[in-house]
Amino acid sequence: MCGIVGYIGNKKATPILLDGLLSLEYRGYDSAGIATIENDVIKVMKDKGRVKNLENLDGIHDLIGTVGIAHTRWATHGKPCRENSHPHMDNSNTFAVVHNGIIENYIELKEFLISKGYTFLSQTDTEVIPNLIHYYYTNGPVSVLKDSLEKFLGSVKSAVNDLKGSYAIEVISPICPNEVIVVRKDSPLVIGKGGGENYIASDIPAILKYTKEFYLLDDNEFAVISKDIVKFYDSSLTEHSKPIKNIEWDSNAADKCGYEDYMLKEIFEQPTAIRETIGSRFRLGEKCSFDDIDISKEYLKSINNIYIVACGTAMHAGLVGKTLIENLCKIPTTVDIASEFRYRDPIIDEHTLCIYISQSGETADTIAALKLAKSKGAKTLAISNVIGSSITREADYTIYTHAGPEIAVASTKAYTSQVALIAILAMYFAEILGSSDEKTILDLKTDMIDLPTKIEKILDNVEPIKEFAQKIYTEKDMFFLGRNMDYNVALEGSLKLKEISYIHSEAYAAGELKHGPIALIENGVTVIGIITNPNLVEKSISNLQEVITRGAKTLVITNQILTNSHFDYVINIPETNPLLSPILSIIPMQLLSYYISKFKGLDVDKPRNLAKSVTVE
Ligand code: G6P
Repeated sequence: MCGIVGYIGNKKATPILLDGLLSLEYRGYDSAGIATIENDVIKVMKDKGRVKNLENLDGIHDLIGTVGIAHTRWATHGKPCRENSHPHMDNSNTFAVVHNGIIENYIELKEFLISKGYTFLSQTDTEVIPNLIHYYYTNGPVSVLKDSLEKFLGSVKSAVNDLKGSYAIEVISPICPNEVIVVRKDSPLVIGKGGGENYIASDIPAILKYTKEFYLLDDNEFAVISKDIVKFYDSSLTEHSKPIKNIEWDSNAADKCGYEDYMLKEIFEQPTAIRETIGSRFRLGEKCSFDDIDISKEYLKSINNIYIVACGTAMHAGLVGKTLIENLCKIPTTVDIASEFRYRDPIIDEHTLCIYISQSGETADTIAALKLAKSKGAKTLAISNVIGSSITREADYTIYTHAGPEIAVASTKAYTSQVALIAILAMYFAEILGSSDEKTILDLKTDMIDLPTKIEKILDNVEPIKEFAQKIYTEKDMFFLGRNMDYNVALEGSLKLKEISYIHSEAYAAGELKHGPIALIENGVTVIGIITNPNLVEKSISNLQEVITRGAKTLVITNQILTNSHFDYVINIPETNPLLSPILSIIPMQLLSYYISKFKGLDVDKPRNLAKSVTVE
């Protein structure tokens, strides 16, 4: 939610800032703005709308400042309009601020500042920040300091001390025109190290084309960034050093590489993402191993139950993970939505393992849910796609999906990689515990190795899916039905459709249909059935037959031979171990949603009202 970019060096900041904002637009695209310093004056240009709109503002390319901050917004406080766009300045135009997060006590702070004579131009929570900095710079304890940088940093710290909520903040001021000050708490911020220049961004891909060396700012940590040096300070402004991280991602990974949309590119990247996620974590004839974690048999034996906690698509991957873990490890496993888990006092203790799945590693509810489990003595394991993301820094153990940057708001390759990684984790636990026989695990490994080729096979034949999309893209409601893992994947298929096509859809466990939802089935309604479990074929067919009888149009995604059925369309996918089938059966549903969205002429990568990284509650 909201993207932040910053630059300081010898080049004109504006093109670099605009370029970074374009890469970060998936975090929010209601409005955008930049601020640079020119001849000791802050120049701000901002407006509602997308970054393209900002790029076309009169005079924006005439900005010559070599230090600047920028922002793309997902509105929380105040509608999208120029006044509410970032950067925001204090009343004296001395400090410009961009902010990602939410200041929960901004009303109280605003009242305080108004009582001191400050006025406000926007409805945002953010505007209190530059004014508070100004207040402390002129009235607070730091106002007596002589050194302007020390005074600048001290006043940012005093202002931040007053904030409740989450924030990643960049501040510039003509008082110190050669520095950018940043600080974060519960919102991401990274600093990219260049030669004689430095970059700042909400996430790594936004500035990956400029550098592969990154500092990952911690919660409550400040950095003072000049073109040649970055200095780090803790919350009491004691300076410390910080290791640099080399990021291996290929910078092309953040480009469309000839695809019309990131989502399509990411769907087609799934064979590679699965191959990379498997990596060297297992080979046939060898046990699974993780470089990143080492879990003992004693510890696993002491576990009574497992929680898998996540949001959105990651939660759907968790549902598949539950079956994998229970099946292979025989440990009772519960899946919960992070925003629910954190407020319902879950029964967990040191005998509970809590697994948190988050592509971005920055989802506010998932991080809070992890902190809660830690405070109750449980061990926590994070599954993330982003190296060094907040969740990985909080968790006791971290394992990474190697899907590469996922840019489209609707998650695709992250989902299949998450499912693949949990499958490997479940096999790893099972091998340590001896809870599954060797043949079961060997068969699963063999099938996993074949998955990328099988995904390629599905991707080689997208035409029937496109044709079906063309037939149904004007519909208003759709249903997805499945049993067991086919139900889990139906939930994800339905979410994909809602997210990018704005078609209302529901996913139901096929057996539950008769308990209410069947009342919604009428002539012409589209029902998508998923049938991959050989033990449940007959039962699933019967459920679909019931909707056909009531006039539904059916599309079935299956790896079984379906005899005596009367479906309108059948998409055949390759067979695999039923425990892995979601990795294959989701692909036609991803493609179907994609093509429906295209036929409707929608912006696939940036669906309305959504943001990829949900860093607020
Ligand atoms: C948002 C995204 C979803 C994602 C969810 C959880 O809603 O649009 O695609 O599944 O957040 O994100 P995470 O980064 O924690 O996996």
